[in-house]
Amino acid sequence: MLWDKLSWLLALLAVSAGGLPPSNDPLSAPRIFLSFKELKSTGTAHHFSFLLNSTDYRILRMDEDHDRMYVGSKDYILSLDLHDINKEPLIIHWPVASQRKTECILSGKDTNGECGNFIRLIEPWNRTHLYVCGTGAYNPICTYVDRGRRSQGFSNLQALQSGGRTSRAADYSSTSEPLSNKEYIFRLEPGKVDSGKGKCPYDPKLNSVSALIHGELYAGVYVDFMGTDSAIFRTLGKQTAMRTDQYNSRWLNDPTFVHAHLIPDSAEKNDDKLYFFFREKASEVGQSPMTQSRIGRICLNDDGGHCCLVNKWSTFLKARLICSVPGVDGIETHFDELRDVYIQPTQDTRNPVIFGVFSVSGSVFKGSAVCVYSMADIRMVFNGPFAHKEGPNYQWVAYTGKIPYPRPGTCPGGTFTPNMKSTKDYPDEVINFMRNHPTMYNAIYPVHKRPLVVRTNVDYEFTTIAVDQVRAADGSYEVLFLGTDRGTVQKVIVLPRDDLQTEELVLEEVEVFKVPTPITTMKISSKRVSYHSFCFCQYSLI
Ligand SMILES: *[C@@H]1O[C@H](CO)[C@@H](O)[C@H](O)[C@H]1NC(C)=O
Ligand SMILES: *[C@@H]1O[C@H](CO)[C@@H](O)[C@H](O)[C@H]1NC(C)=O
Repeated sequence: MLWDKLSWLLALLAVSAGGLPPSNDPLSAPRIFLSFKELKSTGTAHHFSFLLNSTDYRILRMDEDHDRMYVGSKDYILSLDLHDINKEPLIIHWPVASQRKTECILSGKDTNGECGNFIRLIEPWNRTHLYVCGTGAYNPICTYVDRGRRSQGFSNLQALQSGGRTSRAADYSSTSEPLSNKEYIFRLEPGKVDSGKGKCPYDPKLNSVSALIHGELYAGVYVDFMGTDSAIFRTLGKQTAMRTDQYNSRWLNDPTFVHAHLIPDSAEKNDDKLYFFFREKASEVGQSPMTQSRIGRICLNDDGGHCCLVNKWSTFLKARLICSVPGVDGIETHFDELRDVYIQPTQDTRNPVIFGVFSVSGSVFKGSAVCVYSMADIRMVFNGPFAHKEGPNYQWVAYTGKIPYPRPGTCPGGTFTPNMKSTKDYPDEVINFMRNHPTMYNAIYPVHKRPLVVRTNVDYEFTTIAVDQVRAADGSYEVLFLGTDRGTVQKVIVLPRDDLQTEELVLEEVEVFKVPTPITTMKISSKRVSYHSFCFCQYSLI
């Protein structure tokens, strides 16, 4: 499902011109509600439906250089034309062998049709190929997909070769006619199937996240058949395979992975860190809240320890993300369950703005909130005290002892460690310290110490977020697109008021599916100003 942003932009401008509504307005009630039928009649939305034996669709990758969007489903990979989503998609059928399916069914795993190949990872591999992984009927597999366009002379060959996600050189589409399907290549590379272990989950119900950077695949994933061994893995490339310490609940405790994103720390590449966003079970039994939201990070060039933590991250650290509001009675309402993250780039690649959508854990009441975090606050917590626990019957405290050098979590060969080229050169005491102190003592609070948007006492929750910056006469605004569990998208703008307060305005709420189901993936395409578009996927397993 996709629609052009133009009409929404007009709605925004109309509101700005008309002035703000009186402040006693119920702000969370939208100005305009469009049902699915009404949305269709506007002609700005294109509804895509394709008859596959599944409703499990996930947008896994936007390929803006080729104007394609790749969608993973059960046994199928689709490549949709971003110009015209209703054009017949290019389709790869990638089922599991019937013997594998039989074995999976015999192991009792097919209660909801899970014995299929659920495509869960699509990453750009090189100029011509994608790397894709599927659950493979509880035996994950990966392979390469040849994609791009058939070369037609030099300029197109060039376009094909620059098909990486960073290149803008291949922007031929704005100058030429949309291509017909015949001109695209989209097929499995024969004879190149790899194991998907450590890349893709066995169980299609478990979330995974991934990032392919310099030929190395980093993934937050459950790596076993039973779905009990969770890890952040590095595989595929020339560096040593790495993972988080196995079955160490101090590192990861039943996590649900939400997002992974590379954020550089400085101009020095050796300082580059990959951030993981997830939620996990609280470390203590009976602790409230039961779920905690986390941001974790590793150095890309981590080689593990020498004495111990061999082939395990020696730079993994995590911190708690807080999103809460004080109540009238002084009791904080915590939104503990991180559901989605949107990283908004800024001029400075080291300092993107982090938007998180959270919901209330447990079932006391439904509520959700959007909190915004700055990299400065995040780095301050990672540079602060480590959480320490003397023994099982002690409280967590801030570690006050001597911190070994180089400071745990520092990347090798970076700004602070130019002479230690590898984590294997780190003193044993650094590695030992890391093993027992993966958590920061301080939590990360949102900007202004409160959520940007809050919803309580409503019968829906936010599930996804995308953010767009819109310029208006009196400055630029952030426009939030918030997907809900009732199949709608709210377009929300947050306006500054005096005294550091903000005011939130729901401009529109739109029903994007014929049958209301939770929105689970949402991508914003921003290649050209005149062609912003939003894509939503519905997801109900199998
Ligand atoms: C679709 O699913 C049904 C029920 O599981 C099955 O009987 C049918 O063969 C499937 N069709 C295709 C085309 O896979
Ligand atoms: C990209 O990778 C695939 C799979 O390894 C390989 O067959 C192909 O030749 C590579 N293409 C380029 C341009 O390097």
